[in-house]
Amino acid sequence: MAGRLAGKVAIVTGSSSGIGQSIAIRYAQEGANVVVDYRKRPEGADDTKKQVESAGAKAVVVQADVSKHADTQKLVDQAWQQLGRCDILVNNAGVEKGADFWDVTEQDYDTVLNVNLKGAFFLAQAFVRRLRDAKLPGRIINISSVHEDMAFPHFSTYCASKGGMRMLTRDLAVELGPIGITINNIAPGAIATPINKSLLEDKEKLNALLKNIPLGRLGTCDDVSALAAFLASDEAAYITGSTHVVDGGLMVSYHEQ
Ligand SMILES: NC(=O)c1ccc[n+]([C@@H]2O[C@H](COP(=O)([O-])OP(=O)(O)OC[C@H]3O[C@@H](n4cnc5c(N)ncnc54)[C@H](O)[C@@H]3O)[C@@H](O)[C@H]2O)c1
Repeated sequence: MAGRLAGKVAIVTGSSSGIGQSIAIRYAQEGANVVVDYRKRPEGADDTKKQVESAGAKAVVVQADVSKHADTQKLVDQAWQQLGRCDILVNNAGVEKGADFWDVTEQDYDTVLNVNLKGAFFLAQAFVRRLRDAKLPGRIINISSVHEDMAFPHFSTYCASKGGMRMLTRDLAVELGPIGITINNIAPGAIATPINKSLLEDKEKLNALLKNIPLGRLGTCDDVSALAAFLASDEAAYITGSTHVVDGGLMVSYHEQ
């Protein structure tokens, strides 16, 4: 199949909805076969699978909770067993829990850090081990957030997880470069997806946010997946260890009203 990702296989975590779904479909349109990971919503994963297949690519649906070490290994094993290789990993699965810092529970801390950071860490490890053994190059793309850098009061666990992801990417760029694996973060600003349900339903908060976005609108999943496709392609061969912001200018203009 023609396209910038022809012949490649990608794992996209949390691809039953939102940004992950959009990346899985975009990769298929660019020629890649895709492992569609979901945690709880098989119907969302089936929808992604159908759209991947109508783009002319193969999709393998795998139920895997990335916060569980064994499930991260399962995702990589399934890619190799069912699709014969695995060149691209997109660590997209993520959760957020809002609370004043003094009210954060151990359970919420574990949930957010285990999905957003531990999951990305050990999935990358399983992905890299197979490539290292096969002496093949690869691409890791983490869906981080502007909050790997920018404060988000009352979301301290989310900020800690994305800040950790920022530093993990810089560290792994150095460690993995010599074996031909690049790693980059995409830092979305405010994108219209299910994770922002409460914001999207609160007109006042939404309008205040829009005033902080120079381009005057929320981002779309396609805005993010276009960059994810570029970073996975040969055109991005010399890019590693960086964060690439997709936020309509939010980070350079943000101020409280
Ligand atoms: N939407 C935004 O404004 C925005 C901004 C910055 C960063 N992000 C990041 O983008 C990523 C995707 O979020 P989204 O906006 O598409 O929202 P979303 O809620 O649609 O997507 C998150 C996905 O992660 C999956 N997931 C959660 N826990 C999981 C687990 N343990 N194992 C496997 N999958 C799991 C969910 O099922 C869901 O499909 C997240 O990492 C989020 O932090 C989103």
